[in-house]
Amino acid sequence: MIRVLFVCLGNICRSPMAEAVMRDLVEKNHLRDKIEVDSAATSSWHIGEPPHRGTQDKLREYGISTTGMEGRQLQKTDFESFTYIIGMDESNIHNIRTILSDPHSPKIFHFLDLTQYRKDVPDPYYTDDFQETYDLVQEGCQALLEKIKQEQL
Ligand code: 4NP
Repeated sequence: MIRVLFVCLGNICRSPMAEAVMRDLVEKNHLRDKIEVDSAATSSWHIGEPPHRGTQDKLREYGISTTGMEGRQLQKTDFESFTYIIGMDESNIHNIRTILSDPHSPKIFHFLDLTQYRKDVPDPYYTDDFQETYDLVQEGCQALLEKIKQEQL
């Protein structure tokens, strides 16, 4: 099984959006038996909470469900469990490497480095622009699926 973990600061806006979009893409590509998707926070601020209302509303607009999703914090054991550990911005990458005590592993990388944008995913918790984030997340997830197909399938 290929296991993908998206990580952001709060696990209520960007990483759950990426988790839900990626899972939708995996299902549409009939890869549910090969690829598992999860998300986590570097902070403990929103453990057990559902995704932010703005993330829920944006995903619902595109027919993507967030049922049952709740915030959790990144654990040291996630390092061994996941094939890819993907940060939404540069500070997430720094915090992931600190929490997982691994400054070098290539399994940890910046989400939009997979795309032509090569920048941080804007945080709609502050920008309130869930559409901009959704569009970038879609593009990143499609690039990630191509990377997985090349490297693992
Ligand atoms: P996220 O956004 O990292 O994309 O989930 C945030 C969520 C919550 C907070 C900051 C960013 N917060 O300060 O509680």
